[in-house]
Amino acid sequence: ERHFAGTGPLSGKHVLVTAGPTHEPIDPVRYIANRSSGKQGFAIAAALAEAGARVTLVAGPVALPTPSGVTRIDVETARAMADAVAAALPADAAIMVAAVADWHVAAAAQKLKKGDAPPALALTPNPDILAGLAANQQRPRLLVGFAAETERVVEHATAKRTRKGADWIVANDVSGDVMGGDRNTVHLVTATGVEDWEPLPKADVARRLVQRIAVALAD
Ligand code: CTP
Ligand code: CA
Repeated sequence: ERHFAGTGPLSGKHVLVTAGPTHEPIDPVRYIANRSSGKQGFAIAAALAEAGARVTLVAGPVALPTPSGVTRIDVETARAMADAVAAALPADAAIMVAAVADWHVAAAAQKLKKGDAPPALALTPNPDILAGLAANQQRPRLLVGFAAETERVVEHATAKRTRKGADWIVANDVSGDVMGGDRNTVHLVTATGVEDWEPLPKADVARRLVQRIAVALAD
């Protein structure tokens, strides 16, 4: 049940969110993946909808229900996620929370057999969806990336903001048990500096970020 349809600080805005991991197939039964649960991205999509936005959520493989009032597009690979993001444009803002696999392999058509020689996985780079969106003719007015880091968190995130052409990077310290957990410690890196947020439940990180997005899009 949706209580906020058409009202709220983001009413009339279209916001695109990516969330979850991607899976890159090795053969019909095996894949390369990562530990992203999708919880933070889904919480952000939910908070955006509660603030009145029209939300398109492009989700990798996750075990989560679709938040109320959100249009969800399920994808498996990074390449499919890039296509779904392009198809969802234009958007006023894009929040790229997905843990996109950096590489894929040429998937075998049939299941690889243990009796054969161990396969060498030749990794090919995936498209960078965030950097591609930053360079797109239909670049959203506000482009927000996430950076999961295990060390030198703010330093890496600050470099990523410039390198990828994002407006903000939410730097996420994943050195603890964040991935799959319900709390997050983040730093908001913008053109004007770095804000350290106290450790918060993922739902509160989402609500605080959505408040900031509403202010940015109101200008
Ligand atoms: N991202 C993306 N497409 C990719 C890789 C990352 O859109 N192929 C986005 C993520 O959704 C995130 C941001 O870029 O918003 C940062 O992702 P991250 O993996 O931290 O950055 P990378 O540039 O891939 O650097 P590295 O993994 O080497 O730290
Ligand atoms: Ca990466």
